[in-house]
Amino acid sequence: MTQPRASFPVLKGHAGLFSSFTFGRIGRWLEPVRDDVIAVGVIAGARPVGLAVGTFSPGRTQAELLSIAVAPPVRRQGLGRRLLKAWQTEALERGAAECRASYNESMTGRTALEAVLARGGWTRPRASGVVVIGRVGKMVDEVGGWPSVAGRLAMPRSCSFEPLELSAADIEAVERYLSDPEAADMLGPFRQAEPLALDFSIAIRRHGQLVGWLLATETRHPLIEASSDVPAIRYLEAYLDPAYRQSGIMVGAYYHCYSRQMARFGRDSIAIYYTSHDSRPRMVALTLRRFAPVAERVETILCAGSRLSVFCP
Ligand SMILES: CC(C)(COP(=O)(O)OP(=O)(O)OC[C@H]1O[C@@H](n2cnc3c(N)ncnc32)[C@H](O)[C@@H]1OP(=O)(O)O)[C@@H](O)C(=O)NCCC(=O)NCCS
Repeated sequence: MTQPRASFPVLKGHAGLFSSFTFGRIGRWLEPVRDDVIAVGVIAGARPVGLAVGTFSPGRTQAELLSIAVAPPVRRQGLGRRLLKAWQTEALERGAAECRASYNESMTGRTALEAVLARGGWTRPRASGVVVIGRVGKMVDEVGGWPSVAGRLAMPRSCSFEPLELSAADIEAVERYLSDPEAADMLGPFRQAEPLALDFSIAIRRHGQLVGWLLATETRHPLIEASSDVPAIRYLEAYLDPAYRQSGIMVGAYYHCYSRQMARFGRDSIAIYYTSHDSRPRMVALTLRRFAPVAERVETILCAGSRLSVFCP
C-alpha cells in the first residue's frame, strides 16, 4: 500500500489546533506547549489529523507517552506507526534513553494502541500496578478500622504530616531520595506534570526531618466520566524513606489526606490512587485485599516500553 503524504512536526508554541486528538487535561498543555511536553502532530492535506503527546523531564531517562491518536478517516494507513516513530525520535533528541506508556486495561482503543506499539518494537505490555477508584467516605471507614492506623494516630509526635512547604534542606532530601534507583519511577514534588492540590499534598516528617511525601491533584479523570461532576482527587505519588516502611506511616498519611478530602468535598467525592507492582508489591496485595471490596473500581494498569536508540524502528 502506498503511504499517504503526511508530515510529523514537533509542536512548539500554541498548538491548540491539535488538542482534540488528546484528553482534555492534556490538551491544555498545548497552549502553549509546555517545556516538559513532547508533542508531535500529523498533518495531511494541510490539516491536523493526529497527535502523539507525552512528557519528559530533564534529569530523567524515561519519556512517558500519554496519548496517541489519528483521525478515524485516515486510520489503518500507517500514520500511527510513523507518528510513534517521530515521537520517539524527538524523545531521543531531548535526551531520553527509553520511553514508556501506561494505560488502563479497560481503555477504549487498547487493541489498536497495542498493535501500534508492537509494530514499533515496544515490549509486550505487562501489569505494572493497580489503580483504585473509590468513594472517599468508604475508604476512610475502611482504613480507620485498621489497628496499624489506630496505633499510628495515637503515636507520640515523632511523625507528622505537614503542608508541602519545603526548605532548602528538604529540597536536598528530595533530590537524594529521587537519585536512589529504587525511586526510579518517582517524580517527586517538583516534576509532576499536573498541578498539585496543596490541600491534599503533604510532607511526611519524623522529628521534623523530611522522610517522604504524598502528592495529589484535582482531576476529572476519564475513568470517572460518568460521575464527572463529583470532585475527585488523584493521589499521584507516595514516597517514604525505606527505613520507615511497613510502619503504618504511609497508610496513616493516606488516612490523613482522605479525611481532609472527606471534610472538604464530602463522603461521596472520589479518591483515586495508584500502586506499582514493581516498587510496592506488598501495597498492591494490601490494596487488592482491603480496598477492592469497598472501591467503585479497581483496574490493572498495563505498561509497555522501548529503549531509544538511533536505530529505533
Ligand atoms: C491507535 C491509533 C493511533 C493507530 O493509528 P493508525 O494510523 O490506525 O495505525 P497504523 O495504521 O499505523 O497501524 C499500525 C499497526 O497497528 C495495526 N492496527 C492498527 N489499528 C488496529 C486495530 N484497531 N486492530 C488491530 N490492529 C490494528 C495495523 O494493522 C498496523 O499493523 P501492520 O503494520 O502490521 O499492519 C488509532 O487507532 C487511533 O487513533 N485510535 C484512537 C485513539 C486511541 O485509542 N489511542 C490510544 C490511546 S491514547
